[in-house]
Amino acid sequence: MSHLREWTNNAVRKIEADYRRSADTHLIKLDLPCISGIDLYLKDESTHPTGSLKHRLARSLFLYALSNGWVGPKTTIIESSSGSTAVSEAYFARLLGLPFIAVVPQNTAKKKIEQIEFYGGKAHFVERSDQIYAESRRLAKELDGHYMDQFTYAERATDWRGNNNIADSIFNQMTLEAHPIPKWIVMSPGTGGTSATIGRFLRYQQHPTKLCVVDPDNSVFFDYYHSGNTELTSAVGSKIEGIGRPRVEPSFIAGVVDEMRKIPDAASVATAHWLEQKLGRKVGASTGTNVFGALQLACEMKRKGEIGSIVTLLCDSGERYLDTYYNPDWVTNHIGDLTPYQTKLSEFETLGCL
Ligand SMILES: Cc1ncc(COP(=O)(O)O)c(C=O)c1O
Repeated sequence: MSHLREWTNNAVRKIEADYRRSADTHLIKLDLPCISGIDLYLKDESTHPTGSLKHRLARSLFLYALSNGWVGPKTTIIESSSGSTAVSEAYFARLLGLPFIAVVPQNTAKKKIEQIEFYGGKAHFVERSDQIYAESRRLAKELDGHYMDQFTYAERATDWRGNNNIADSIFNQMTLEAHPIPKWIVMSPGTGGTSATIGRFLRYQQHPTKLCVVDPDNSVFFDYYHSGNTELTSAVGSKIEGIGRPRVEPSFIAGVVDEMRKIPDAASVATAHWLEQKLGRKVGASTGTNVFGALQLACEMKRKGEIGSIVTLLCDSGERYLDTYYNPDWVTNHIGDLTPYQTKLSEFETLGCL
């Protein structure tokens, strides 16, 4: 066996062994008496070793790159990331003893940069989020490294048919619930990879569940979904870290999305804060986006007299964002007034409608 083949086999084994040592993430049921008959669940992806849903993607991207023969024992791994993917990829690069560089926008949460460095990776900054792609490609060429390119490969690196992907795990964990087959799964897109996996799984497994994708301000996915225009761009980057993109990412698969909604940034942040009272811990703003969308759907179900379940994702912990979404000055300067949504959310708890 060639030296490279032996190294690749060993690298795959190390990742699989790491997976074997892992536990699945919890599915949390929220207690919301105001919408009785409608059960809301959060798949808590913050409990992965690297703190976000991107742990799954990083594992899949490494296995995909190794199986394609794109990575060897001396390959520098480069990724364009808003932070979470880079933290998780730094973890797997260290597991394999490979150098790792994350190309990240300057405004990325400090905590995420510290975590990338904690796992032995380096952060390489660009000014704007739309510059990460070209700079990653340039660096990979300069260093003879491998650009992971999550925005292209997220949708194909994960086995969407099953194999314990996130959708498979949700359906297994729902089996003993009152409404085991959810009416809706709600997710916000960064690469679009998680929505693609869920949407394809729903069709392949012939479930009646619908996929609702929720997009933040300054993202092009919503307009692309309705216009089909792949050339759309946004000059301003998304303020909800991890989700919302300035271009239509190749991993966003519109055909598997049943409905899209635009969620204002102030609603996302207000909902993240509101969830802290429900869960006793802080969540990231993309979780706020997901839950606001899920609450809207729950209210609409209630209005129509429907019962059933809705599942959405707790993408990462709020401890990463103490300087931003949990800093009132930052919120005032970057997001604006949350009061209208705080009022809506407290009314929701008494009236059951938003
Ligand atoms: C915190 C957070 N939420 C949501 C997402 C979106 O997930 P996906 O890239 O699978 O669309 C990301 C992706 O980076 C993220 O970091």
